[in-house]
Amino acid sequence: MLMMINDDVMVLLGLAAAVLFVLGLKGLAHPKTARRGNQMAMAGMVIAVATALMVPDVRAYGWIVAGLGIGAAIGIPLARRTPLTALPQLVAGFHSFIGLAAALVAVGMYVRHMTFNMLVEREALEMGIGAAIGMITFTGSIVAALKLQGIVGGKPWAHPLRHWMNLAMALALVVCTAWFVMGLGPLPLLLIVVISAILGVTLVAAVGGADMPVIVSMLNSYSGWAAAATGFMLEQPVLIMTGALVGASGAILSYIMCKAMNRSIVSVIFGGFGSEVAGPAATGPAMTVREAGVDDAAYMMGNAQRVIIVPGYGMAVAQAQHAVKELFNLLGERGIEVAFAIHPVAGRMPGHMNVLLAEADIPYDAVHELEDINPRFKETDVVLVLGANDVVNPAAQTTPGSPIYGMPVLEAWKANLVYVVKRSHRPGYAGVDNPLFGMENCSLILGDAKAIVEGLVTSVKAG
Ligand code: TAP
Repeated sequence: MLMMINDDVMVLLGLAAAVLFVLGLKGLAHPKTARRGNQMAMAGMVIAVATALMVPDVRAYGWIVAGLGIGAAIGIPLARRTPLTALPQLVAGFHSFIGLAAALVAVGMYVRHMTFNMLVEREALEMGIGAAIGMITFTGSIVAALKLQGIVGGKPWAHPLRHWMNLAMALALVVCTAWFVMGLGPLPLLLIVVISAILGVTLVAAVGGADMPVIVSMLNSYSGWAAAATGFMLEQPVLIMTGALVGASGAILSYIMCKAMNRSIVSVIFGGFGSEVAGPAATGPAMTVREAGVDDAAYMMGNAQRVIIVPGYGMAVAQAQHAVKELFNLLGERGIEVAFAIHPVAGRMPGHMNVLLAEADIPYDAVHELEDINPRFKETDVVLVLGANDVVNPAAQTTPGSPIYGMPVLEAWKANLVYVVKRSHRPGYAGVDNPLFGMENCSLILGDAKAIVEGLVTSVKAG
């Protein structure tokens, strides 16, 4: 039997955990301090879990250990096997568990309270809200994970009445919650579970393509609020604080990402409300695309004064970051100014490119955000677009109706010469043609990003 603690000690330990979570979040704001931030958050989590286990009400340690064992047996191999590029769908899957847990706790608490006939209105309200947020998070996250994994189509669900259906379901949830609080019967709780499960699907199904990063971060926020609701039901202050931190930081991240993508947060929350549903994707007129060899590009880069490298998802797939570091060093030794241009949603998770470049020890001062680097493209001799596509697509500025229209992009086409490294003529994540590839100053170098960059290194050395 573990040592039991009184309420005051529990609150103090909860506060210590919450402070460590806040410091952890602060650390995660910069690659230099991210590792320390993670360690702090992990220490906070150890304190939080230990505190929860010492609550006098907790007695079923056998069940808890069995649950931890089964969870670890599934989670550890899954996390080990998942490549960095598939992290968003793994995270969406984890969010779905938090939502399911909140809904199960609500139903479990209801059954328990009704057995002893001691349910009061306040608790019923907590259960109703917990079940609703939990189920929306649960089914919404599953749809997001399936879309990100490509198991269901990434195209937004475009039913013309979807906003009315969502509104009707949201109103029905309010009515059922009031009914549940007043009557305390099982039917309204059941209806809350079913309606929110459907609402989770319809909200997330209406978002798609290049907007998926925002919905994943929004679901992250929902999962935090679901955890906070569970904290209220279980009277666990640590869970309330932790859930609120996740909920608030997820909401702030969603807001930042919406700004970066030039999307309205209201539109994302209400399942694409107010946004035009994208027309067919790869529809542009056929264009003539030039192809170049590695030696041509190496020659131009070796004789340039300024080079910008735009990394994207393909660099992550090819794990080309170490070869890129070698190219960066080589060009730097020749007095060529090399900068990296990072789009906020390049790759498949926030900060994806920063993580990869930091892993290869590329100095932070060579890495630039979109707003800082965009004015510099016109003074640049050569841009190397390395496995990026949507983030350099000029259609975002020129083609109203395109799924990426309005999204700020890296204006690579303004440079003297652009080399795009990719394996084929296929479009990027959003599924839209990229007019950059048909521009006079642009050539494709077809092949795997790592092999091509290694080839560039060899060729620059030889030149
Ligand atoms: P994408 O638009 O997905 O383009 C990546 C390009 O890399 C593809 O055109 C692909 O062309 C190429 N590629 C793939 N593997 C390669 C390899 N081994 N070697 C060379 N090239 C390779 O990527 P992006 O420009 O980074 O834009 C990100 C997109 O993902 C945005 O639409 C964004 O909204 C979305 N998204 C982002 C996130 C976050 S949070 N960052 C999360 C989910 C979705 P080939 O197939 O022809 O090689």
